[in-house]
Amino acid sequence: MSRLDNISLGKIVVIREKLLKAQKDGQKIYRFESGDPSFDVHPNVKKSIEKALKDNKTHYIPNNGIPELRETLALKLNAQNKIPVKPAHISITNGAMHALYVCYQCIVEEGDEVIVPDPMWTEAVENARLAGAKTVGVELKPEYDYVYRAQDIEAKITPKTKVIFLNSPQNPTGAIIPLVELQKIADLAVKNNLWIVADEAYEHILYDGGTHTSIASLIPAYDKVVSVYSYSKSYAMSGLRIGYFASTNELFNDRAAKLLRCTVNGINSISQWGAIHAVQDTPEEWYAEMNAEYLKRRDLFLEALKGQDVLKPYVPKAAFYLWCTVKDGIDVEKLSEELAARGLGNAPGSCFGDSHTSKQSIRLAFSCDTKMIVEGAAELTKFLKDYK
Ligand SMILES: Cc1ncc(COP(=O)(O)O)c(C=O)c1O
Repeated sequence: MSRLDNISLGKIVVIREKLLKAQKDGQKIYRFESGDPSFDVHPNVKKSIEKALKDNKTHYIPNNGIPELRETLALKLNAQNKIPVKPAHISITNGAMHALYVCYQCIVEEGDEVIVPDPMWTEAVENARLAGAKTVGVELKPEYDYVYRAQDIEAKITPKTKVIFLNSPQNPTGAIIPLVELQKIADLAVKNNLWIVADEAYEHILYDGGTHTSIASLIPAYDKVVSVYSYSKSYAMSGLRIGYFASTNELFNDRAAKLLRCTVNGINSISQWGAIHAVQDTPEEWYAEMNAEYLKRRDLFLEALKGQDVLKPYVPKAAFYLWCTVKDGIDVEKLSEELAARGLGNAPGSCFGDSHTSKQSIRLAFSCDTKMIVEGAAELTKFLKDYK
């Protein structure tokens, strides 16, 4: 029996494949199962990628990332995230997914416990299991807006707990952990000498005046924190596969360097040159325009769900997912399949955890283009009108 035998192939991947097959067979498909931004990368990023190729930046590079990118990101992390790190504290990874893989491989031993939110984007949890950890879920409830609360985390701490994992803004709920709660979680980790792995992939996708705070900025002297970031969402660079993590913990960085060397031995150099310019040259308005478009899509979905009681949406404060409670008595798996059969992509809550909240919910993503949302939302309204 291998650890891999306990890891799923990804329910969302299975749903996506079915939808893509139906699309190939001529059915109209609405890609609400997937969190891939519809936007093109910024023209400045394209230019820098072209230039890197022209300048033959195609040779081996340091396995923790090219120095110019780590310097750029150190400036970004200090200025935007208020995390006091140096370039040596940063490593570039093949997306945030790979950063999470590296984190857990470097931190946990067989049998350690990792506290995670439930619901949670599956791969964040499975990467902890892949490293041999047992994940312990904290149920997030609609009654308190799906906030990951320090008091609930504390109740799950045992002598085996090694890590508190958090993800704010969150996938799948779109909730943000309020600053007061974030401080309590930080204090809890320090008091119990626990690691914090903070997945901040959605740091820039914020609505209604919502703000993002990095937990590492609240406890700058505590070094058992790893902050994880992705270029996929902030810069719509999902296919270029760039992510990174930052930590001031020497042992962690030492282990990570060895793991990166023995596995990927450096991330695509061309993407890294593009990544420098994504951070340096992306005008503020770009984020604002993307967020305004996401907000429009969110509100189209909310409008489409008015006047029915099958799906009760939480109004997300961030990210691009609409997390809905499914009316009691309705079988969510069956509902998910019926929506998919109508071409309406979705991810049933069981993809995100075992809690009652997860099992009685469904996620609709609004990262696909606005035209698809307009048409798909109309189809969704029709579907739900007569749903029994
Ligand atoms: C919370 C969260 N973290 C990390 C990732 C992975 O992002 P990347 O494309 O950088 O691997 C995702 C992707 O959906 C996500 O939702």
